[in-house]
Amino acid sequence: MSREYNVGVLGASGAVGREMLKSLQDRGFPVKTIKALASSRSAGSTVEFEGKEIKVEETKPDSFKGLDIALFSAGAGASAQYAPLAAQAGCVVVDNSSNWRQDPRVPLIVPEVNAGALKKHKGIIANPNCSTIQMLVALKPIYDAVGVKRIIVATYQSVSGTGQKGVEELAEQTRKLFNGQEYPPKVYPHRIAFNCLPHIDVFLDNGYTKEEMKMVNETLKIFDDPNIKVSATCVRVPVFYAHSEAIWIETGRPIKPEAAREILSRAPGVLVQDDPQANFYPLASEATGREEVFVGRIRADLSLENGLSMWVVSDNLKKGAATNAVEIAELLIREPDLLKTDWN
Ligand code: A2P
Repeated sequence: MSREYNVGVLGASGAVGREMLKSLQDRGFPVKTIKALASSRSAGSTVEFEGKEIKVEETKPDSFKGLDIALFSAGAGASAQYAPLAAQAGCVVVDNSSNWRQDPRVPLIVPEVNAGALKKHKGIIANPNCSTIQMLVALKPIYDAVGVKRIIVATYQSVSGTGQKGVEELAEQTRKLFNGQEYPPKVYPHRIAFNCLPHIDVFLDNGYTKEEMKMVNETLKIFDDPNIKVSATCVRVPVFYAHSEAIWIETGRPIKPEAAREILSRAPGVLVQDDPQANFYPLASEATGREEVFVGRIRADLSLENGLSMWVVSDNLKKGAATNAVEIAELLIREPDLLKTDWN
């Protein structure tokens, strides 16, 4: 019989954590035991896994003893605190927070793009930002074919990226506004219903937000290319699930839109939806609940000699978070050596 694994999910009561449990189940990950961890706030509540109710446990320093793999999505603070403890206990962590992404000891992995970098891990592996993942899955085949010198991206990000509380704020605010009632913003700095907020995460001294700089810095690390130029504008929009991105790239050598479409149609993890005359292009509503990265509106950038433009959509809770984390776990169990930890 093939081996099964003891798996933990930290942040199991949250939007991404629940999706991680679902992805483990739906993708048939060989789970021997499952442990659902969160804070004391939701300890004692239950989450569903493979048709059973699993009790959520409060995370303690020794919660990871006996686990082979833990998927984390409980924010940077919990990750800073618990990931080293887990790795020291022999449990490999795949962490969805931003805490470890730029740590040189920690590989930042998108399986379709840089699975090879996984070999260097010491017990903690970082899952990139949702917006970065879908952008790089779409751009990697073009990068390999003709090179990419510069990327300009504008995102249209759904409220589930803020967690369950973002989903609740948009739903409640919309309901209240339709009923002529006030709903002052709590999660976002302004009303999100019927609005677009050019503000995701905190503003930095350079005028960009932290989310925008994540897209810049994570791209350099994942492509392992310090020369690529990236500029991002990240916008929160009143959509519940799936992020959309308008992307403009300058390629190293010329490539026709037809050739790019052809390359992308064969690329792993990508589904091309590109027949604008038939109103066929990627949509957040259609991408919700799916694991692929959808690419369409592939066309020449008329303002630039080697310019290409496209529209890229993916479910931020799936490929942007849970699916990517579970795919990393699938790579880990393929090679027994990858399940070892060495974190001091
Ligand atoms: P809890 O439900 O107990 O607050 P979301 O991204 O949807 O907001 O979810 C965040 C997840 O991370 C939840 O499961 C939350 O648990 C968990 N979490 C947040 N902070 C901690 C912490 N310090 N220790 C353990 N789990 C945490």
